[in-house]
Amino acid sequence: MDIVNQLVNGDVLEVMTRAPSDSVHLAITSPPYNVGKAYDAHDDEMDYQDYLNWLNRVWKETKRILVPGGRLCLNVATTGIKEFTPLHHDLTSQLRRLGMRFRTEIIWDKQSMKTRTAWGSFRSPSNPHIIPSWEYVLVFSKERNKLDGKKQDADITSEEFVKFSNGMWHITPETRRDSHPAPFPEELVYRLVKFYSFRGNTVLDMFGGVGTVALVCCKTKRKFVHIDVSEEYCRTAGKRLEACLGVRVAVRHVRRKRRTADPAVRGLRRNDQKTKRRSSKVFLGRRRHRCHADPIVRVRKRPAARRVQQRRTEPFDEVLWARQGRRKHAYTK
Ligand SMILES: C[S@@+](CC[C@H](N)C(=O)[O-])C[C@H]1O[C@@H](n2cnc3c(N)ncnc32)[C@H](O)[C@@H]1O
Repeated sequence: MDIVNQLVNGDVLEVMTRAPSDSVHLAITSPPYNVGKAYDAHDDEMDYQDYLNWLNRVWKETKRILVPGGRLCLNVATTGIKEFTPLHHDLTSQLRRLGMRFRTEIIWDKQSMKTRTAWGSFRSPSNPHIIPSWEYVLVFSKERNKLDGKKQDADITSEEFVKFSNGMWHITPETRRDSHPAPFPEELVYRLVKFYSFRGNTVLDMFGGVGTVALVCCKTKRKFVHIDVSEEYCRTAGKRLEACLGVRVAVRHVRRKRRTADPAVRGLRRNDQKTKRRSSKVFLGRRRHRCHADPIVRVRKRPAARRVQQRRTEPFDEVLWARQGRRKHAYTK
């Protein structure tokens, strides 16, 4: 399934398992930290072991779809001040066990301490607390350290290279939230993109949120793969890209395949789906092939505005061509 330069709304594993192997040069991501944040479509208070098992499956898929030498930049923080959870250690161990090379860690100093303190045992050494005013970007590579690329596609300047290779990055967190509880600051993504990828490379964010990675990719002439389980965040990402590029990017929906362990139930469901598929032919007429791959979803009536948007699923390149006048009326067919 080709998901390059598309905003894909779906479950991370469902989408990643459909992506081709060795197709992504850089993954920049920040998973939910399992600290009870109010995400639109994700339960951020899972059992800790279930949470780790889930992420381990995501890393396995990440490794598969990275090219040899491809990088994973994983933004993560320790969680809990009283009940300290070294999430960065647990995720590092997972990735090393999967055979990823641990290249370095960047300290993202969020400069958020100023006048705050964690009271703990104030002015007493009996039980003082530390407030983590920093996060990590853990950098891994697949199989080898070197990423192949042409010299003319390395677009980082000397000043940027010197500045970014100091592993302590002072960047304030994003204040414009776009109704998302934890978006990346653009500057953080910009530095990772320029430092770790060539112009024209494909960059993935499998927990894409409101599309900061996709946005920076468009600004720096990289291709992007954006996945998020929330339709609302994907739509916001589309609006941000539209504001930057002046073209509309549709959200592509990938629904969960319905699976059940019981073969008897599976058989029943297949029959049920056949019936619905037949009725969907009548319901949606000749445009049924444009609707969702999951027949259960297909029979749902879409509002008119979304049907129009569904048609506009052309990849970015064509849109950019159109803007450059190489192909007129990209969307008028
Ligand atoms: C820390 S936020 C990432 C924010 C993003 N870096 C940005 O700049 O907007 C984690 C994201 O993971 C998404 N998410 C949670 N569970 C998911 C799943 N099963 N599949 C895909 N995305 C998921 C959430 O909706 C949330 O937007």
